[in-house]
Amino acid sequence: RYEITQREASAEILPGVRTPLWTYEGTFPGPTIESRRGRPVTVTHHNELPVPTVVHLHGGRTPAASDGYPTDLVLPRGRQERPMHTGHGSGHGMRGMHDPRAVVTELTRDYTFPLDQRPTLLWYHDHRMDFTAPAIWRGLAGLHIVRDDAEDALGLPAGPRELPLMIADRAFAADGGLAYPALDPALRERPGVHDPYLGGVLGDVILVNGAPWPVHEVDAARHRLRILNASNARHYELEAVTDDGRRLDLVQIGADQGLLAAPVTHRLLPTAPAERHDVIIDFSGIPVGGRVRLLNRLGSGRTRDVMAFRVARRAADDSRVPRTLSTDLPAWRRSDAVRVRDLSFRAGRMGGGHGWLIGGLPFDPARSDVITRLGDVEVWRLVADVHHPVHLHLVGFRVLSRGGRPPLPHDAGLKDTVSLRPGESAEIITRFDGYRGRYLFHCHNAEHEDMGMMANLEIV
Ligand code: C2O
Ligand code: CU
Ligand code: CU
Repeated sequence: RYEITQREASAEILPGVRTPLWTYEGTFPGPTIESRRGRPVTVTHHNELPVPTVVHLHGGRTPAASDGYPTDLVLPRGRQERPMHTGHGSGHGMRGMHDPRAVVTELTRDYTFPLDQRPTLLWYHDHRMDFTAPAIWRGLAGLHIVRDDAEDALGLPAGPRELPLMIADRAFAADGGLAYPALDPALRERPGVHDPYLGGVLGDVILVNGAPWPVHEVDAARHRLRILNASNARHYELEAVTDDGRRLDLVQIGADQGLLAAPVTHRLLPTAPAERHDVIIDFSGIPVGGRVRLLNRLGSGRTRDVMAFRVARRAADDSRVPRTLSTDLPAWRRSDAVRVRDLSFRAGRMGGGHGWLIGGLPFDPARSDVITRLGDVEVWRLVADVHHPVHLHLVGFRVLSRGGRPPLPHDAGLKDTVSLRPGESAEIITRFDGYRGRYLFHCHNAEHEDMGMMANLEIV
């Protein structure tokens, strides 16, 4: 049981200035919750922010009532009426506020998570209709780690050698305040920041666990990096580079929905918004005092740097990376699918303006887009115009193909978000099990999501 108060707070993120934030419990990221598989957790959220909020546990196998449907609001404490909205950066009006199906529930709300699922790194974040992107940008995001005995017994690097890394870019105004470029046209001209209506909002400062370009002291030993790309829209291609220009292996052991069957070695690891990669890096060959920089090959100037590790001491290492990591990955085959769906993720006209659409339509909470039966296996053929990281609530899926070819190395394992590249198609397969109810799928470019690229997934 946890209690989280959502409230305004400030933090010294850049030296010498305070940055006002919207927070879970006063910090950004919010408190990290650690749970055991199959042990239900209830989190009571109190909303002391000036706006309604919605909490979603991303990657959680959660009954619909606690999944954070975008109109399922926690009203701000002490408000008698629906408040005026601030911070609307990107969207297309306030349809959610006029939707007769909007469920206005409480000022305080219990979210219950059974966590009967493979252990992995989840994250919780705001999910209010039309306002998710600016809310996450202002700080409404936190980590939730699920563990189990089988994973603990593997002997992976643990304790101080297990590092959850929430990577997120932000832009700052001169007074230290977060600048959401959609609200500040001047910012769109700054290098590293660009037009939110196209690619989504990018910042020119890279934060890891809320700190800009941190340098973390490590032992000369294996470490487990549990990487979450919590950026609204920024993609990264991560590489770990030593002082003398060598690239270290990034040995991936897990994906969005937990451990892979066997490790996959990368030199360059692409990560799209909302994806998680569980990665082993070995600092044992680095001299004391030496550094390993985690760089973003897609960045330039200051967005090329993400963080650095400084080897502080030699140390014993009894960790292991077993050749077999897990044996419980679902092995759905095409022939198991009772249905194949085609879903396009494309820009289009919406109302008087520009929107991001799924199957030609913007999100409408009153429309059923996909209806499936509990237990059905389906293949979805996704096609994108530009980059779209596509996320499904409730279920994990496997990537069957990309552009008619076999999946890429970083598509391994069980995913809940797949990064479609410009012009690309991909096939995913999943089984809709767990719970009946109304869920979602959407682009996890948060601005695209707010601009309509979301749809209902009903499991009956
Ligand atoms: Cu991470 Cu529907 O969201
Ligand atoms: Cu989600
Ligand atoms: Cu998108």
